[in-house]
Amino acid sequence: MKALVLIGGFGTRLRPVTYAVPKQLIPLAGQPMLYHVLDLLPSDVEEVVLATGYKAELIDAYVRAHPTRFPVRTVAETEPLGTGGGMKNAGGAMSDPFYLLNSDVIAQVDLAAMARAHAAKRALGTMALFEVDDPRPYGVAALGPEDRITAFVEKPEPKDAPSRWINAGLSVWDRSVLDAIPPGRAVSFERETMGGLLARGVFGYRLPSFWDDAGTPERLLHAQQLLFDAGRGGAGGVPPGALGSGPVAAMPGASARGASFGRYVTLGPNVIVEPGAHVDNSILMDGAVVEREATVVGSLLGPKVRVGAGHRVQGQVLGEGAVA
Ligand code: GDD
Ligand code: MG
Repeated sequence: MKALVLIGGFGTRLRPVTYAVPKQLIPLAGQPMLYHVLDLLPSDVEEVVLATGYKAELIDAYVRAHPTRFPVRTVAETEPLGTGGGMKNAGGAMSDPFYLLNSDVIAQVDLAAMARAHAAKRALGTMALFEVDDPRPYGVAALGPEDRITAFVEKPEPKDAPSRWINAGLSVWDRSVLDAIPPGRAVSFERETMGGLLARGVFGYRLPSFWDDAGTPERLLHAQQLLFDAGRGGAGGVPPGALGSGPVAAMPGASARGASFGRYVTLGPNVIVEPGAHVDNSILMDGAVVEREATVVGSLLGPKVRVGAGHRVQGQVLGEGAVA
């Protein structure tokens, strides 16, 4: 099977960081969000096609410099085509069936087992579903016998949500769904296409354990915690010469001698945390500097952000090069 990964969104909810970097390249527990998604794919996947758009050249460059287990090809949109338009534009050579993955979700899922369930039910589509307390920010499924999806509502008003089981952004589709998407214009697969496919047999595949969409600052840090707790953050000890329990994921070139750490921290490449500084529950991107005796808590620091000596940054998202 091949996999189509949607990676063209603007990441508006993670601005200002996403003015400079697409959200899929923000590191969580030591590697970019995109790579956690690719980790979910079974190793016999033949090819991964990334449907890119916003900041496509940065994603291209990153993927070239950091090869994955799979051959990866990117197909960039010249204008945003939405999820369905992106599928149509990049899905030309997909396998039948194929995996369709959003690139901003983290999960515990056996995608090969999901593909087997898809084949066993002779489904047109099989969609991983996760139960949440508040389904409003998601696509929500109504389920019938055998978990057949009988209705699908994208971002419903509370009164219109048919259940609390939401589209986890990980699915398997027969290639023929691409024929249902009109070419050459923006299409939301969830809002425009899905409804018309349900009569042909689309089934839910319930995820038993963790899942999150990492597309907002709060959810991003929550997703990082889940990844660390599931052991997906590497060794997780604090960097050499630093104090604290961790888990901390230090990427190449990061240094933090004499600093101290709380829990759940990623230090991106070449980050410097100076002696006496303290970092807790945060993500610090490439080349960020936390000067002496400064404190960073519950924050996302974009590339080359500098937190001045003794300053405190809490609950903030700071864009590239910001000084705090
Ligand atoms: N190629 C391309 N072109 N990709 C896009 C575009 C586009 O114009 N717009 C968004 N994407 C990508 C995003 O990068 C992301 O990986 C995925 O499509 C979904 O877009 P989001 O903007 O993150 O959507 P959402 O989180 O509001 O909702 C989607 O995900 C939820 C689960 O996280 C929907 O699929 C919901 O139904 C679902 O519940
Ligand atoms: Mg999303």
